[in-house]
Amino acid sequence: SLGQCPFRGTRVGGALGKQPQIDDWWPNRLKVELLHQDPPQANPLSDYDYKEAFLKLDYEALKKDIKALLTDSKDWWPADYGNYGPQMVRMAWHSAGSYRIADGRGGAGTALQRFAPINSWWDNGNIDKSRRLIWPIKQKYGAAISWGDLIILTGNCALELMGFKTYGFAAGRRDAWEPDRGTYWGTEFWNGKTISEVPKQSYDGNPGEMVTRTVRWKGKPGDAYYDLENPLAATNQALIYVDPEGPNGNGVPLDSAKDIRETFARMAMNDEETVALIAGGHAFGKSHGMTPPDKIGPAPEGAPIQAMGLGWQNPNGTGFAQYTMTNGIEGSWTPNPTQWDNSYLENLFKYDWEKTKSPAGAVQYKPKDSNAPKTPDAHEEGKMNELMMMTSDLALKEDPAYNKICKKFLEDFDYFSEAFAKAWYKLTHRDMGPKDRYFGPEVPKEDLIWQDPLPKRDYELIDAKDITYLKDEILSTGHGISALVSAAWSSASNYRDSDKRGGANGARVRLNPIKNWEVNRPEELSEVLASLETIAADFNKAQSGNKKVSVADLIVLGGCAAVEKAAKAAGVAVEVPFTPGRVDTTQELTDEESFNWLKPVSDGFRNYQNDKVGFHIRPEHLFLDRAHLLTLTAPEWTALVGGLRVLDQNYDHSDLGVFTDKKETLSNDFFKVLTSMEYEWVPDEAEMIFTLKDRSSGTPRYKASRCDLIFGSNAQLRNIAEVYAANDGHERFVHDFVKVWDKVMMLDRYDVKNS
Ligand code: HEM
Repeated sequence: SLGQCPFRGTRVGGALGKQPQIDDWWPNRLKVELLHQDPPQANPLSDYDYKEAFLKLDYEALKKDIKALLTDSKDWWPADYGNYGPQMVRMAWHSAGSYRIADGRGGAGTALQRFAPINSWWDNGNIDKSRRLIWPIKQKYGAAISWGDLIILTGNCALELMGFKTYGFAAGRRDAWEPDRGTYWGTEFWNGKTISEVPKQSYDGNPGEMVTRTVRWKGKPGDAYYDLENPLAATNQALIYVDPEGPNGNGVPLDSAKDIRETFARMAMNDEETVALIAGGHAFGKSHGMTPPDKIGPAPEGAPIQAMGLGWQNPNGTGFAQYTMTNGIEGSWTPNPTQWDNSYLENLFKYDWEKTKSPAGAVQYKPKDSNAPKTPDAHEEGKMNELMMMTSDLALKEDPAYNKICKKFLEDFDYFSEAFAKAWYKLTHRDMGPKDRYFGPEVPKEDLIWQDPLPKRDYELIDAKDITYLKDEILSTGHGISALVSAAWSSASNYRDSDKRGGANGARVRLNPIKNWEVNRPEELSEVLASLETIAADFNKAQSGNKKVSVADLIVLGGCAAVEKAAKAAGVAVEVPFTPGRVDTTQELTDEESFNWLKPVSDGFRNYQNDKVGFHIRPEHLFLDRAHLLTLTAPEWTALVGGLRVLDQNYDHSDLGVFTDKKETLSNDFFKVLTSMEYEWVPDEAEMIFTLKDRSSGTPRYKASRCDLIFGSNAQLRNIAEVYAANDGHERFVHDFVKVWDKVMMLDRYDVKNS
């Protein structure tokens, strides 16, 4: 028929990348390619030294330019009250606010607000305009300031311009150059069904079937958009936290308070920080709801080509200024929305509020008392409007715990200002990781507990001779290769690149809670640590100068020595790189609760599954997620697993995937067995554990988990496993293993690397 192309379906469908794609056909396949996102090829600045460039720019001039721009209203998007400050504060807050502590993903760190899906979330409505407004600044300073840094710095400049004293600013955010496909933001709609009609993400977790809605609105009756899926930090996808109109738009402040507490906790904010942020933020600006949402054009990602990246075209009047439609609620919280003051809380508490509707039809509240202060219109000279509160604002008054905090803030404006300044700093820097990654003239000196502080090193480092001596000392303790490798791996591998937390520096593996995690073999670990601590103490005592070795370094060095020994046993002489310089931190500098989030629920590297956590996702998918958080490539991941198995690294010393008769020897046996047709694999009922039987005799030989067999069953991983299983593959494997081992040990070394 018309439009058919004989080669590739319809002509339309023949375009590059058009659906259906592999994922549509095989929605359950392991998406190994997710490990190779945002590659250097996508980055026009991949060889660029951002830190050097930033430190060279005139920071004060940059801030002055930003502040000047904030009151220079442009006709294509006129500023409310002649000041872009409030909308820039919202831009910065939404950039940072997608962060969640469970996996450290989201946040402002790579400026993902520029890409889908985040650029098109309904909650980010018109933030496309905010970014476009600051383009002249970006253009002027070019690559010397990243989008990620500029977005947050503009938020700070806006706050300062409106009379608020900020706590500080650190640069160091490196932009991503393509959308992130690896973050699970939650389900929204599923084939047009409401969430309640859909069985919880099926065992196979099938995102391919998921229809993601990029607008949020109460559409047809029965459309559910509310989920609060654990552990995501928003009640539903496309929101930063919660629906301002209350859960499912029900307008009930106490229900809203419940959601606020849950979602803010999932980004590691306590009650006081939460109140400070909301009350602080809503001291500024206004909400926009002058047009019914169904009149609004598509989000940026779906907008027509001539819109040049901007979305949500509004056909009402000019479509901007007094016609603006963003969220749907209309009005301002305070009489002076471009000035830092305490009138948000004053009016919230002084007046009773009654439910009303915005011109766009959203639920909101207005003062019952018609004599309550009014607020000037953002665009029409002389016009005064009623104050507005959202359901989520009233939550602060109605929830007893929030209410108490508000009263404290009301009584002491300075205390409130300080609380907001600190919470804002945490919000906007939380995902940057260790302070070593911070730079710029406004980095506060003080260490804050959420930065997972490390003490400053005040001693000289060990040299090559010391390293050789210490390796011998460690090997002569009698701890086996398995135990030494496990201690080092436990120390380093809790790193996650999402928010750069965890890792071997600081030796937090000696402290609560990490030392007790079942996955880290706590008993064996404490014995290894005791020996290493003795070696460190003896060595340090024996030095006449100011030279010392940290336990953190010795833990890693022990792993290196053990890997070298295992390689030698397999007939390959290698030296495992080792870079000293880690320090030992203390229990006082460790926020236990916050580190609990780093505890793996599933760790394929050590064949660990915490069965108490009822995730409905197959272990190999969670394994891929961990590999991603460690920034591993598919070959690196494969080499690591092949090595860890023969080095006896299962958390419980089980034989799952240990396809060798010579444990603690760095052979390529794992890959040989995995790719061999001599065996067949017989699953248990749950298809979780597999027995490898000799095909001809039927004799059981080995046992394996899904996290083992995936390297033979997944096409991409199998092709890599074949490289290592081949007759010329052993040495290559050992060298690749050593390289990736070192990579993992160095993941958190921002003291020596610049990234
Ligand atoms: C505006 C909701 C927390 C800062 C808004 C708007 C909504 C909203 C619906 C109006 C958007 C529009 O139509 O233009 C919420 C909810 C929150 C929350 C539900 C949490 C429960 C925060 C926080 C901050 C903040 C933590 C910053 C610290 C702002 C600012 C504006 C704003 C400055 C005004 C933007 C403008 O004038 O264009 N918020 N917000 N909000 N929000 Fe929030």
